[in-house]
Amino acid sequence: MPHYRKVGEVPRKRHLRVPQHGGDGERFLFEELMGEEGFSSDSALLYHRHSPSAIVAAERLADPAAVEWTADGALLPRHLRTTKLPGGGDPVLGRARLLGNADVVISWVAAERDSAVYRNATGDELFYVHDGEATVETSFGALGVGPGDYVVLPAACTHRWRLDGHRLQALVLEMAGHVRFPTRYLSETGQLKEGAPFSERDVRAPEEPLHVEGTDVEVLVRSADGLTRHVHAQHPFDVTGWDGCLYPYALSIHDFEPVVGAVHQPPPVHQTFAGPSLVVCSFVPRPFDFHPDAIKVPYHHANVDSDEVIFYAHGDFMSRAGSGIGAGSISLHPPGFVHGPQPGSMERAIDADRTEELAVMVDTFHRLRLSTLAAEIADDDYPWTWAGRRL
Ligand SMILES: [Fe+2]
Repeated sequence: MPHYRKVGEVPRKRHLRVPQHGGDGERFLFEELMGEEGFSSDSALLYHRHSPSAIVAAERLADPAAVEWTADGALLPRHLRTTKLPGGGDPVLGRARLLGNADVVISWVAAERDSAVYRNATGDELFYVHDGEATVETSFGALGVGPGDYVVLPAACTHRWRLDGHRLQALVLEMAGHVRFPTRYLSETGQLKEGAPFSERDVRAPEEPLHVEGTDVEVLVRSADGLTRHVHAQHPFDVTGWDGCLYPYALSIHDFEPVVGAVHQPPPVHQTFAGPSLVVCSFVPRPFDFHPDAIKVPYHHANVDSDEVIFYAHGDFMSRAGSGIGAGSISLHPPGFVHGPQPGSMERAIDADRTEELAVMVDTFHRLRLSTLAAEIADDDYPWTWAGRRL
């Protein structure tokens, strides 16, 4: 994961008493060791001014995330139109859950309000910010994010989305596990290798603690059982410093350096993240394949072990021309259905020398279900666009 980072004031040695500044010598900072995989993997050590365990109230909440999945229907490719979703709410509770399985739930948010302080203890969250700006305040510090940013919020990272009047549109992946950079991009000791499509310099992370003080602070916590409202005696953003290799960060899709070849390169060259039984790939503006006879749009393919989801962010989606797909669309191509360029797009691409597409692909290794909400925004004509007719 991202490299070792040290922010704010951190004592020279771990796990020793640290007097609080301005105290009477009898008050000490409170360590919070946040670690993955039973503390045998990445971790961070945060220093709080107050006990992060001090809660004064707890209440189970009705879960707005409860999803109704559609019954099994005919196997079909799908086109979901996020522009048909009403939007509103905040980036945590305003999620429109569209696709999901035991590994991941894929949602769309078009949020207009700040979120509550929130902690998802069930797994990492990955946002792809499509439009708008926000500040993600966390117990590690703040992250300013905008269009094209991937935002990784590790499991149990306490945070709050602040919109400051902006509208935030984003694709959200709630994962039952952790999101990593692909192992093949990393050296044995975890550095991004020369040749990886981005580097540590592209990773943005909090640079200073927030030093927030406050009492009786509401924190929403998602656990395997649902949503609980805790009231913390003191503000969880009271951290004075932290260090480690586990922290929230942002990576812009515009910093992804594309790989091109004489003929079409397969999706793994676009991989950006690996999650639990899924991969995330970034399709960014790039020169087209340069063999004089190259098929420049992806030829027909059967991805036999994956459900392929693509979110179309910006640009000209040449291979989907005429299918109704445009910015804000999500396509789902399941295994068992061979998909490829829409009619005429291969011919139209012959004289093109680059693509301006911007898209995010999520390939899941287990079948995704469609929510009833997703079914409502599905384009019923999409499955028949290759044939141009329907019996
Ligand atoms: Fe595909």
